[in-house]
Amino acid sequence: MKRRTPSTGKPSKNASGRENIQGRALTSNTTMKLQVDRGRLQAEIEELAKISDGEPPAVTRIVFSETDVRAREWFIQRCWEAGLDVDRDGVGNMFARWNGSEPDAPVVGTGSHLDAIPNAGKYDGVVGVLGGLEAIRALKRSGFQPKHSIELLLFTSEEPTRFGIGCLGSRLLSGTLTPDLARRLVDKDGASLEEVRLKAGFVEPLEDVELGRDYYKAFVELHIEQGPLLEKQKMPLGIVTSIAAPASFRFTIEGAGGHAGGMLMPDRKDALCAAAELILAIENAAKSSGAIDSVATVGICDVFPGAVNSVPSRVNLTLDIRDTSLERRDAAMRAIEAARQSIAAKRGVTIREELVNADAPAQCAPEVVEALTQSCAKHKLAFVSMVSRAYHDSLFMSRIAPVAMLFIPCRNGYSHRPDEYASPEDIERGVLVLAETLASLAA
Ligand code: GLV
Ligand code: MN
Ligand code: MN
Repeated sequence: MKRRTPSTGKPSKNASGRENIQGRALTSNTTMKLQVDRGRLQAEIEELAKISDGEPPAVTRIVFSETDVRAREWFIQRCWEAGLDVDRDGVGNMFARWNGSEPDAPVVGTGSHLDAIPNAGKYDGVVGVLGGLEAIRALKRSGFQPKHSIELLLFTSEEPTRFGIGCLGSRLLSGTLTPDLARRLVDKDGASLEEVRLKAGFVEPLEDVELGRDYYKAFVELHIEQGPLLEKQKMPLGIVTSIAAPASFRFTIEGAGGHAGGMLMPDRKDALCAAAELILAIENAAKSSGAIDSVATVGICDVFPGAVNSVPSRVNLTLDIRDTSLERRDAAMRAIEAARQSIAAKRGVTIREELVNADAPAQCAPEVVEALTQSCAKHKLAFVSMVSRAYHDSLFMSRIAPVAMLFIPCRNGYSHRPDEYASPEDIERGVLVLAETLASLAA
């Protein structure tokens, strides 16, 4: 089985010197008493939210920015305090490990991401990382001793903000993205992933990031729902059975610019007007599928030259399109393609299209879903089975490991906005069930 080797130049050890916690006498897992330290976890969530480039309450943490690096350092300290060994790979995925009594046995993983899109909230990703840490601390306090090592993962760039493609860390880890393609990624200022990861201190070869299919026994991710269903159904927990298939594109529309007064309407090839038609065709492609799981979003629209009195000559658009059904998503993509061609012909503009990613959906593993189900039952907590319409690192972890996810409600279903909120009680319940599940998987 492939093993990660400790990174050079950076500590890969337990600096707190508290390894002896791991050596405590073994307490029977059936009698363990799990207690989540809700106050400490809340304080950590608040503290981390201050490591941000956003105006509070907004949180912004873009991958490999100074702020992201500071957040990672803060996270490593918390892991060391918990007696975990911290390792990392070349793309910046971090692994905080609690060694099991059989250190060569496949690992049980949990975790999520700490990067945050511009103007985001405090909970997306954070609940899975800091909640995972608190789950491990709760297990340690209970006297539980894992047989399989438990690893807490912090994935690099789950958000697509900087390089235009989400889940960079888990894509590389699972072999979904090749190191060669990763090296070609550049941000809007022309800085390459290669350049910025090295600058942030992640110098190990990208070739070593991928882990084999035998590395993880299971992976389970705790996350806020990012939708309204749990709250509407007054359900404290959701067990995810599948994750929707995301795809994304970039469009460049080129028309002809000119003077806003002098250029007569019949002569125009206005790139923004063509873009407007394309955006509405995209909305229509998702709406007309007949399924609530079909969604499509144009989140970026850059207009050139961007002057009040100038006809737009060029527009760059992004498209994010998802569905729980691959067939439906692909049908919507075909409808958008037909619209692209007809709008270009009708308006005499060119519309170039670049596919960034088109991923298959993930089915969660019955054995991990069952472990979550049993854990809910043990703590007498109600749950519903649900799909995840958002994507997560679990989507890619499912390519190399049995995976499932646990959702907790978030107020009004809000996410990717500063007023994103999950209550301390809901977070505590999620962490409790996560801890119980990790224990059953790692025993
Ligand atoms: C993740 O942030 C997503 O956009 O689903
Ligand atoms: Mn997100
Ligand atoms: Mn997330």
